[in-house]
Amino acid sequence: KRLVVLVSGSGSNLQALIDACRDPEYGAEVVAVGADREGILGLKRAEDAGIPTFVHKVKDFDTRDAWDEALTGTVASFEPDIVVSAGFLKLCGPRFLAAFPGRYINTHNSLLPAFPGMNGPGEALAAGVKLAGATLFICDDGVDTGPILAQCAVPVEFDDTVETLTERIKEAERAQLVESVGRMVREGWTVEDRRVRFG
Ligand code: GRF
Repeated sequence: KRLVVLVSGSGSNLQALIDACRDPEYGAEVVAVGADREGILGLKRAEDAGIPTFVHKVKDFDTRDAWDEALTGTVASFEPDIVVSAGFLKLCGPRFLAAFPGRYINTHNSLLPAFPGMNGPGEALAAGVKLAGATLFICDDGVDTGPILAQCAVPVEFDDTVETLTERIKEAERAQLVESVGRMVREGWTVEDRRVRFG
């Protein structure tokens, strides 16, 4: 199966997928990596792996809709079975969602529905919760609201900083992403009443 991965940052989740795809039994390959900005480690990781990359910056388009249209067209040209948002810091528009229905997924660094948005680990720390974690979900038109594919929890330690908690979450998040995308490509998935069933 064909994966297109979208990134805005360090791309450690992307790297985990690239590494997993080296095993033919994993059943997937990363056919392209897209970004909304240049000069990020995520793009370099793709280039180092010989994977085609593309960049669409919102500011290079007259409207957000024009950006969305360009992104949709470029991603579609790689004919992905699954599009993975892995630290991609843009919300895609209705056209994009319609082009990849139920096949555009995002990994988020909190146990949703708690702490959606940009600062999951910081908000978990501030709330004093004892468990934090990551959620892999199918994107819909809300912010971090779609049907949940998988969740993993990690402990919050008393001495954690945002940095140490973020790192603990990311380690579990990468493993979860690799495992769940692997299940998606090998078993398939369906959604009934917001509940995801593999197989
Ligand atoms: C992930 O923790 C994701 O949940 C958050 O940003 C991080 C991306 O990290 N939105 P990386 O670019 O994959 O290293």
